[in-house]
Amino acid sequence: MHVTLRQLRVFEAVGRLKNYTRAAEELHLSQPAVSMQIKQLESNVGIALFDQVGKKISLTAAGHEMYQTSRIIENQLNETEQVLEDMKGFRHGRLIIAVASTANYFAPKLYAAFKSKYSAVTLNLDVTNREGLLAHLESNDSDMVIMGLPPKGIEVEAQAFMDNPLVVIASPSHPLATRKNISMERLQEETFIMREPGSGTRIAMERFFAEQGADLATGMEMSSNEAIKQAVQAGLGLGIVSLHTLEMELETKRLEVLDVEAFPILRHWYIVHRKGKRLSPLAKAFQQFILDNAANLLEMKSA
Ligand code: PGA
Repeated sequence: MHVTLRQLRVFEAVGRLKNYTRAAEELHLSQPAVSMQIKQLESNVGIALFDQVGKKISLTAAGHEMYQTSRIIENQLNETEQVLEDMKGFRHGRLIIAVASTANYFAPKLYAAFKSKYSAVTLNLDVTNREGLLAHLESNDSDMVIMGLPPKGIEVEAQAFMDNPLVVIASPSHPLATRKNISMERLQEETFIMREPGSGTRIAMERFFAEQGADLATGMEMSSNEAIKQAVQAGLGLGIVSLHTLEMELETKRLEVLDVEAFPILRHWYIVHRKGKRLSPLAKAFQQFILDNAANLLEMKSA
C-alpha cells in the first residue's frame, strides 16, 4: 500500500473533524489541497474512505480502518517527538492532560506550580466527565489523565495522590442545614439533583446508595457541578458533589455541607495512563510532581 505521511495526517484531521474546511484551517492548508490529498489517498488505497451526503461527510467501513491506523501513527509520532524533545532538553515539551470536570477545580493550581518549575512547557488540556476520560484512555491520545477511579476494562497504570470526599450539600435555609448526624432514612425523604450518567460523581453516589440499601430520589439532572450548586442554592433539592468543588461557596456561606451518617463518600484522585505507554520524560516529571506535591499544595490529605 502506497500511502504518504502527509496524506495520513490530512486524512486523520478530516476523519476527526468530519469537515474539510476545519481540517484545512487546522493544518494551515487550502481546502482544495486537503481535498486533493484525500482523493490521492483514496486512489492509492483503491477504495472510498468517506461518504458524502450533501455537506455531511462520514467515514466508510474502510475509512474507519484507516482512521484507527492514522491515529496510532499520529500518537506514535507525538510520543517520539516528546522523546526527541527531551534529548534536546525537555523543558520545551508539550504535555497533553485530560482531567475530570470535578478535578478542574484544583488542577489549575497544580499546572501553575508545575509551570513555575518548567516555564517553557506547553500544557494542552481537556476537561471532561468520566466518560470522556475513558475515551481518552481508549484512544491513548493524552499523556496523563486525572480521574476519580481507574477504569476496569482498559489496562492502565494508576496512582492515587489525594483524597476526594463526596459530601451532601444544601442551601443554608434548608431544614436539615443545622441538624446533626442526619440518618440515611431521613436523607431518603429528600430529592437530589444529579450529575449526568457519564459522570464519575454520579456513578459513585448511585453505588453508595445501593450499598447502603437506600433509595435515591432524583429530581433533576445537570451536566456540571456549577449547575448543581446553583440549583441547590436556589432550594431545588440536595446535591452530592466533591468537597473540592465547594471552596468558594463554603467561604461565602452560600451552601452548607450536611452532617449525614456514613458520609462523606470516600474516594481518591488518581493520575492514570495506558499500561505500556512510553511516557515522555516531561510526562514522567509531571506525574512525579503530582504525586509528591498535590496534597500539600492543595492542603488536602494525601490518598
Ligand atoms: P466527574 O468526575 O463526576 O466530573 O465525571 C470524575 C470522577 O469523580 O470520577
